[in-house]
Amino acid sequence: MNEHDHVCICHRVSLAKLRAFLVRENPSVASLMTECLGAGTGCGWCRSQLESLHAQHKAGQLPIIEGEHDAYRERRILDNRIKKSVGLDIENESQYDAKMSVEMSKKRVRIPLSQLPVGARARVDCSALTHLPESDRCLLAAMGLADQCEVERCSGHECIIRIDRTRIALARPLADQVLVEPLNPS
Ligand code: FES
Repeated sequence: MNEHDHVCICHRVSLAKLRAFLVRENPSVASLMTECLGAGTGCGWCRSQLESLHAQHKAGQLPIIEGEHDAYRERRILDNRIKKSVGLDIENESQYDAKMSVEMSKKRVRIPLSQLPVGARARVDCSALTHLPESDRCLLAAMGLADQCEVERCSGHECIIRIDRTRIALARPLADQVLVEPLNPS
């Protein structure tokens, strides 16, 4: 991740600002990281990252966030979307992981089709498509993407899915809009 990328996406607080804050203020506990422009006080998703930056600083290391920024952003957006769909009130990521595994087994969780893992099956929820232009909805219907139909993700590179015996390819922006309910493997 680049120094100027945002660690706290809600409050647009970059890694560079957080590093400067750590050097300047040397906060005694990780919770004081919120004093850096309100980092961590929005959706709360970045709090575990702030804790990690604080711990690295205390260990005398240059604080870093592992991984690419795009993947970081995507994960945060997806996690928050899932959290919202199951109505969870989560304080940190480990609580989130623990609660999610319980909640996913008993609640209906919908994710964007583009996030469905390769080989996984899911049920399409067309009720969430009403915001799409009619031309897109007609296109999806013509391809066989009907409400409650089952699909299987065939390729990770592009969003290629299988409906019955037919394979279709969806453009990524469209696949981001289609919500599906993952099905447990039988
Ligand atoms: S990403 Fe930092 S509070 Fe939401």
